Amino acid sequence: MSGLLDWVEKRLPVMDAYKKHLSEYPMPKNFNFWYIFGSLAMLVLVNQLVTGIWLTMNYVPSGDGAFASVEYIMRDVEYGWLLRYMHSTGASAFFIVIYLHMFRGLIYGSYQKPRELLWLFGMLIFLVLMAEAFMGYLLPWGQMSYWGAQVIISLFGAIPVIGDDLTLWIRGDYVISGATLNRFFALHVIALPIVLLLLIVLHVLALHEVGSNNPDGIETKLPKGSKGDGYKTQFPFHKQYSGKYDVIDSIPFHPYGTVKDLVGVAVFAFFFSYVLFFNPEMGGYFLEPPNFEAANPLKTPEHIAPVWYFTPFYAILRAVPDKLMGVIAMGASIVMLFLLPWFDRCKVRSYRYRSKIHLANIIQFTICFVALGILGALPATATYTLMAQIFSLGYFMFFILLFVYSKNEATKPLPERVTFK
Ligand code: HEM
Repeated sequence: MSGLLDWVEKRLPVMDAYKKHLSEYPMPKNFNFWYIFGSLAMLVLVNQLVTGIWLTMNYVPSGDGAFASVEYIMRDVEYGWLLRYMHSTGASAFFIVIYLHMFRGLIYGSYQKPRELLWLFGMLIFLVLMAEAFMGYLLPWGQMSYWGAQVIISLFGAIPVIGDDLTLWIRGDYVISGATLNRFFALHVIALPIVLLLLIVLHVLALHEVGSNNPDGIETKLPKGSKGDGYKTQFPFHKQYSGKYDVIDSIPFHPYGTVKDLVGVAVFAFFFSYVLFFNPEMGGYFLEPPNFEAANPLKTPEHIAPVWYFTPFYAILRAVPDKLMGVIAMGASIVMLFLLPWFDRCKVRSYRYRSKIHLANIIQFTICFVALGILGALPATATYTLMAQIFSLGYFMFFILLFVYSKNEATKPLPERVTFK
């Protein structure tokens, strides 16, 4: 057996990659709860892929057959209900996990130099994930699938000159029809998952090239000899690191990270199972009530709201009275996130050692984001629109204020080594 493994290893260094990227990956000792969400995102991804493949076995991607095939999966296919609920709950779980994962990056400054590319790959993943969820939502061909897609696709119509042609091109028809459903199906099950997987590989490679940040935001992977022998780690890390760097205050990912992540998986499974078995619609937030009615192009639902994970951006869109300006504001809210590494000019990463202003700014940003999320799910009355305008302002102010104060921020002294709380 070992001869065979050796033979493979000489031709394709699988064990070498396994050690480098998994078992011997140096994980800073002070990782906390916030560091489980990357692994959880991968777990949810696998859940989506597996349940998605099985759903596809009975789903019919046509205007005539889609809605009925979902009913068939729910009632007649053995464990079809479980597969479908795992997939629909998984979609919301994905966004919960990703938002927490991004929030961690925000508070510990993980997007800062040298991890800008890692952040950019993350943001591309976020964009593709939103497209993936949007297209998947059309597939059950319910009322909200239909009208939600109608609202979002019509936004492209606001773009001057090419708008009308562009919406026609996206729909593949003059209205949303079976043709639209077919192409969304193809993109949802094949094209976007491939792009997503590729981006995740690049995301992890970019992380492993520079090494993980940590709650103190100080480097644990130092140029060789820069801090003297006292800083050397007691663990024999993979030669890629030990040859070039002094890796300090770190422990091998296996067994320390794997065990920590398993605890996260158990807690996650607990919440996930609760939703799955006791509350799969989650009060209409994970599966919206109008979607239990088949798509009807002649009947507009009273109140069209996107699924909860889109609502913060949807609220920004609606906060601006002009359609084109609204689309620009919504686009800008995502572009700002992409540019976060360049808005923040501070040399200190973690909020722990940054100014009170920075902490206050993060808190106000979080409040605005959550409030926009709530408002985006409510009808656009005059009061709610005004509130959405105020919170949208707060959202954008976060970036502008950050750019201004981060240049000469009054930071606290950084510790020499990572700390434990
Ligand atoms: C499918 C989606 C994603 C997967 C599977 C994923 C996976 C991971 C994994 C496994 C890690 C290392 C473990 C950890 O730090 O939690 C990580 C780190 C990181 N991810 Fe993601 N990620 C995803 C999306 C995102 C997004 C949307 C962003 C932000 C725009 C992002 C930003 C980061 C950053 C900044 C780090 C480094 C954190 C640090 O070292 O402090 N990721 N990701």
